[in-house]
Amino acid sequence: MAFPKVVKLVEVGPRDGLQNEAHIIPTATKIAFIEQLSETGLTVIEATSFVSPKWIPQLADHQTVFEGIHKKPHIHYPVLVPNMQGLESALAVGVKDIAVFTSPSELFSQHNTHCSVAESVVRITNMMKIAKQRHLHVRGYLSCVLGCPYEGEMIPEKVTDLAATLLALGCEEISLGDTIGIGTPLKTQRMLNAVMEKVPVEKLAVHFHDTYGQALVNIYAALELGVRVIDSSVAGLGGCPYAKGASGNVATEDVLYLLQGLGIETGVDLQKLVQAGRFIAEQIGCQPQSKVNQAMYDS
Ligand code: HMG
Ligand code: MG
Repeated sequence: MAFPKVVKLVEVGPRDGLQNEAHIIPTATKIAFIEQLSETGLTVIEATSFVSPKWIPQLADHQTVFEGIHKKPHIHYPVLVPNMQGLESALAVGVKDIAVFTSPSELFSQHNTHCSVAESVVRITNMMKIAKQRHLHVRGYLSCVLGCPYEGEMIPEKVTDLAATLLALGCEEISLGDTIGIGTPLKTQRMLNAVMEKVPVEKLAVHFHDTYGQALVNIYAALELGVRVIDSSVAGLGGCPYAKGASGNVATEDVLYLLQGLGIETGVDLQKLVQAGRFIAEQIGCQPQSKVNQAMYDS
């Protein structure tokens, strides 16, 4: 299959990025960060997550952040929700887009959300009923699709079955997460080919962490199979606190540079993205984990 002509970038920095920071970022900084991202041409910015502050204190200010953003009508600001309690607090502040999450790995599910995979599907089923009544857009995440810190290799068929379940439950998009960044292009294509037997490629997104420096080549491999939604995190922020070794997400600047080089449209302005990446890296006190950001800033 030919490369897609247009790709949608899903910016996960304010959620997947900031959930893993050692220090808690001030609420006003998070809002300023999301607003800078809103000026770049991105159409999806995952704003925060309505999970338990006991487990993710970094995002305990989820309601204030969501309410504080000056939302642009053409931009979606999804939030992660783990259960009915999270969904109710999200609805209370007017959330319109949610992301539910589970994993084909039994042990990862236990560590991440303290429930079995089957129980997580029940939670999602219950949330989907409310989501349908309230006409919410719902994305589903699957974590550890190419390997798990607790179970090792992941069988593609397990990923396929759970992705098909999320689709049947009404998820509009399913993001396949290489949470610990151990995938390689061949494994990526093997997994995607299996999933695409039951879920149309238009419904799929890929979500790579860059632990082993394979994220960009994995994205290239996914593009070759026609995937047209890519998750990424500006300045390469990110990780999952329940997956040892899950370093940053692939940097949005690096993905955009790759897509531009392939002549693929995204509508996103690289220069503005570099500035947003610089802004958040300075606030955190680190260098952007993006070769493109560093190169463009130094030049
Ligand atoms: P639990 O402790 O088993 O739940 O947590 P519980 O129902 O027994 O409740 C315990 C306490 O948490 C109670 O408070 C609840 O009120 C509270 P207490 O009575 O002790 O004061 N609570 C909540 N508070 C606020 N919002 C809520 C909520 N739910 C319960 N929604 C739970 C279960 C799932 C909530 C917990 O394990 C949790 O929040 N986990 C978060 C895990 C997480 O955020 N992980 C990172 C995101 S996933 C990821 O990064 C992967 C991804 O990027 C893709 C990839 O890379 O592969 C998406
Ligand atoms: Mg992630």
